[in-house]
Amino acid sequence: MTLPLLCRDVYGIIGHDGLPAQVAMLRSQPYPCIHPYVKPTSSDTGEKAMKAVLLMNHGGPEMLRYGDAPDPTAGPGEVVVDIHAASVNAADYKVRLGSGRSNLRFPYILGRDFSGVVSEVGPGVTDLAIGDAVFGVCDQGIEGAYAEKIAIKAAIIAKKPDRLGHAEAAAMALTSLTALWALEDTAQLKAGETILIQGGAGGVAGFGIQLAKYIGATVITTASARNHDYVRSLGADRVIDYNVEDFTKTVTNCDAVFDTVGGEVQIRSYAVLKPGGRLVWVAAAPEGSQPPRSDVQTLRPGVARDRKHLERMLELFEAGAVWPPEIVRYKLTDAAEAHQVSESRHLQGKLVFEVR
Ligand SMILES: NC(=O)c1ccc[n+]([C@@H]2O[C@H](COP(=O)([O-])OP(=O)(O)OC[C@H]3O[C@@H](n4cnc5c(N)ncnc54)[C@H](OP(=O)(O)O)[C@@H]3O)[C@@H](O)[C@H]2O)c1
Repeated sequence: MTLPLLCRDVYGIIGHDGLPAQVAMLRSQPYPCIHPYVKPTSSDTGEKAMKAVLLMNHGGPEMLRYGDAPDPTAGPGEVVVDIHAASVNAADYKVRLGSGRSNLRFPYILGRDFSGVVSEVGPGVTDLAIGDAVFGVCDQGIEGAYAEKIAIKAAIIAKKPDRLGHAEAAAMALTSLTALWALEDTAQLKAGETILIQGGAGGVAGFGIQLAKYIGATVITTASARNHDYVRSLGADRVIDYNVEDFTKTVTNCDAVFDTVGGEVQIRSYAVLKPGGRLVWVAAAPEGSQPPRSDVQTLRPGVARDRKHLERMLELFEAGAVWPPEIVRYKLTDAAEAHQVSESRHLQGKLVFEVR
């Protein structure tokens, strides 16, 4: 069987097993070969190619391949960022599996947040320049940070201070944006209130614990025993090992719940709220389920991407109120392994690709 020419030339895909691209492609059928939406790269048009992790189709981590993709260019209002670090978010493996996204065109590049250096400035961009260190989160419905470069709207990224490394900035971008929208804008958590944060050892919840403590709330969180010291170090006042203790039996009278776990955990979380309490969630309850109480509020933050929230995170970082999470570093070539860890749902802190 002969591979179509386009398939070899456009992607230059390297199999995760180190096999030559053609062999890897043949062994990994049925992958879609090339989709018309992907611009041809240098090998046939002279355009430049970057390295990226290509999702070849929905499925397991083996669907992630390290290969070539066309270099992005900056459109009006955009910059191109040379990515130094990109983080792995729980949403990434969900997209890989196909959850909620039936319209992807493959090969597709995952990755929602990154840190790097501006290498190209598009028309109309006046507040960023080539050489600026920046970090940010892709606009909603857009991904592409598992790559050497990304084009993104300048207005939704922020300058990165030297004091914050690229890996740390990438690790804090989407998690901080989500937690800030959830706790400050949506739940409007106040000093003196009590909050239960579900899944304290995860990326979003870890930032949430620090933020809630800074606001002046009492923080109760759930985590496996191996993560208790970690969540305490983030500021949790009380930690529940959800594997041995039923939080609905021992936690009561909370003003707010921040649910980053979802499923039945979310439904059961209503039991701990006082009348008038707020449950804010970023991980979904079981499909078709309804909130079991009408005397509390169920809130979902919009998590819009903007510079203002990234700069709020930096302000909190400079004030010493929040700090980077535990980080496990990977190369882009190890994306499948990073996804296995993420999908196991028992990591501590964040997984980050060091891209350059
Ligand atoms: N814009 C948005 O709405 C938005 C943005 C970001 C994330 N999210 C969603 O938010 C959720 C969290 O994302 P993330 O990236 O922070 O996740 P993550 O870092 O992958 O979180 C994994 C953590 O969940 C904990 N966990 C798993 N099952 C648990 C349970 N039953 N009770 C308590 N903790 C449990 C694990 O801790 P242990 O090892 O201690 O069990 C692990 O540390 C995901 O569903 C993600 O899709 C939404």
